[in-house]
Amino acid sequence: MKKLTFAVMGMGNRGTAYAAKALKYPEEMEITAMADTRRVRLDAANKYLHLPEERLFDSAEALLEQPKLADIMVVATQDAQHRAHALKAMELGYDLLLEKPISNKLQDCIELVQAAEKMGRKVFLCHVLRYTVFYQQIKRLIDEGVVGKVMSIEAMEQVGAHHYSHSYVRGNWHKEADSSPMILAKCCHDMDILPWLVGKDCLKVSSFGALTHFKAENCPDGATERCADCKLDCPFHANRYYLSRIPGWPSNILHPEPTEENITEILRTSNYGRCVYKMDNDVVDHQTVNMLLEDDITVSFQMVGFTNRQTRTIRVMGTEGEIWGDFREKELYYQRFCGEVHKVDLEALCDDFTGHGGGDARIVYDVIRYMRGDDFDTSSMTTIDRSAQSHFVAFAAERSRVMGGQIVELAEFKKEMGV
Ligand SMILES: NC(=O)c1ccc[n+]([C@@H]2O[C@H](COP(=O)([O-])OP(=O)(O)OC[C@H]3O[C@@H](n4cnc5c(N)ncnc54)[C@H](O)[C@@H]3O)[C@@H](O)[C@H]2O)c1
Repeated sequence: MKKLTFAVMGMGNRGTAYAAKALKYPEEMEITAMADTRRVRLDAANKYLHLPEERLFDSAEALLEQPKLADIMVVATQDAQHRAHALKAMELGYDLLLEKPISNKLQDCIELVQAAEKMGRKVFLCHVLRYTVFYQQIKRLIDEGVVGKVMSIEAMEQVGAHHYSHSYVRGNWHKEADSSPMILAKCCHDMDILPWLVGKDCLKVSSFGALTHFKAENCPDGATERCADCKLDCPFHANRYYLSRIPGWPSNILHPEPTEENITEILRTSNYGRCVYKMDNDVVDHQTVNMLLEDDITVSFQMVGFTNRQTRTIRVMGTEGEIWGDFREKELYYQRFCGEVHKVDLEALCDDFTGHGGGDARIVYDVIRYMRGDDFDTSSMTTIDRSAQSHFVAFAAERSRVMGGQIVELAEFKKEMGV
């Protein structure tokens, strides 16, 4: 069988995760080119991919000067770069595995959806949670009517206080102008999954939220610019945190092969070593979104940066029972009213929960199957036109939040955006 070939732009956390799937699916998949502006990232991945030097590019732009080098281009650069990189790759004839969000600007998202359609390119958005056994089993239970007709869903994204401070106070997504609004950056997954679970469109949203804590006014007395110099007993002390996490996440985001020496040096010079109360961050640290879906289904969603755990929890309430679960714990239950509590044995259905509960591997596998024309149910695959719906919801929620919680009607919002 012919292998599907992939080139990757952006060998950071995400690009590397997808490229590594070539080791998991060696018969089906091959990486033929990689690009990153940081040589250390290319070298780390090439220790196991073994590409010749001429297939390692020092930028996505350099890779895109070449003729087509693979069937699929993985676009895993930063949010604000997606538009340019994805457009050029499509022009060269690539189909895409495009990291979410499609772009950080709604008009760019619309442009990319239209460009894919016009050029006839297949573009799969990395809404990886749809590919996980956890959410697929919730959808199955709903589709089979196990809890009757769904009336309401309560869902929470518990970002985790350290994940929040790493990514959204100090890291790549701390400033909206350079990246995306939080509800898009972190929660376009949720804006995608929640309507998808019940197969209904979102009609209206309202949202509240703010950046309340990680601000100068909450800075404790005596805090220094950099944590290395700080004597306070602070839960967000960068050096204590990152140095205690070697070699795993998130130290391996700072350096692909973290050591005490290189992490200390990165903390001395980068934002990752700065006090969380002295950054120039502006994205919200907590936000809630209410959605009205078709058929009067209500959804209440919360994104919270102040949790111990990093997980998503959900409760689906139907006319005949409830489904509830915890993504990280791989726990999923359902109970018909007055019936027994049933546990869905997720571990019997999946042997690899690494990378977004197994979603990272599964999206790659399903894209391979889709591209080679295998006979399987593709109705939930995250094609760009489907995934764009979640972006409309996220941008509408953000508009509502900025307007103090005013209701935004999706149909009107889309019309205003020219769709
Ligand atoms: N699907 C998900 O659940 C998920 C999770 C996290 C991040 N993301 C998204 O994935 C994308 C990448 O995020 P990440 O966490 O891997 O970030 P990252 O910073 O680890 O990776 C981005 C990489 O792009 C490289 N880069 C920057 N400019 C470049 C250029 N011109 N050419 C080539 N490479 C360039 C950087 O050096 C870096 O290695 C973002 O859009 C992010 O929002 C998606």
